[in-house]
Amino acid sequence: MTSRTAKKKPTRKTTATAKKTSKKKAAKLRAKSPETNHKEQLYANLVVQLLSLLKGEHDLIANAANFSALLFNSLPNVNWAGFYFLQGEELVLGPFQGNPACVRIPLGTGVCGVAAQQLETIIVPNVHEFPGHIACDVASNSEIVVPLFDGERLLGVLDLDSPLIGRFDDQDAEGLNELATVFVAHEERLGP
Ligand code: SME
Repeated sequence: MTSRTAKKKPTRKTTATAKKTSKKKAAKLRAKSPETNHKEQLYANLVVQLLSLLKGEHDLIANAANFSALLFNSLPNVNWAGFYFLQGEELVLGPFQGNPACVRIPLGTGVCGVAAQQLETIIVPNVHEFPGHIACDVASNSEIVVPLFDGERLLGVLDLDSPLIGRFDDQDAEGLNELATVFVAHEERLGP
């Protein structure tokens, strides 16, 4: 089974806005269940940590490398976290943490290629049931792929794998989309 979240119109947040959003979120957490609280708090904290890692640096490769390391080391039960960037009609491997992975993925192929083609976040609870899934690590059982947008233009995807079946849910999709938006907005603000 596969669930796809609707393509969200990309939003561009400034550093200050993103921090404000995190504080607002933290204030609302008290009314929710402990499990929901925990994930929301985790992603709110990751936004703050990502902003701190990005501050003053505009090298895309360095920032993507640190972003993937942050996700890999902060999110439980994740065995691969990283980027594929769009080059022509294919995705090419970018900075990541985890086992070596396939380098080129044509649009429309695998979870990454389908997410890139359909311009939407894809959550795959069981990768063995996803037609055309590309297995880079035999330990992976579930996956989430988040497209990265520069306005309406696709830049690439953020990909996370887990050894757990059903590891990723809508809260992960929301949290990772917010982090991806913060990341792209930072790169755009500083320019090449
Ligand atoms: N599983 C992905 C390939 C990339 S690896 O998971 C790192 C896919 O099906 O597109």
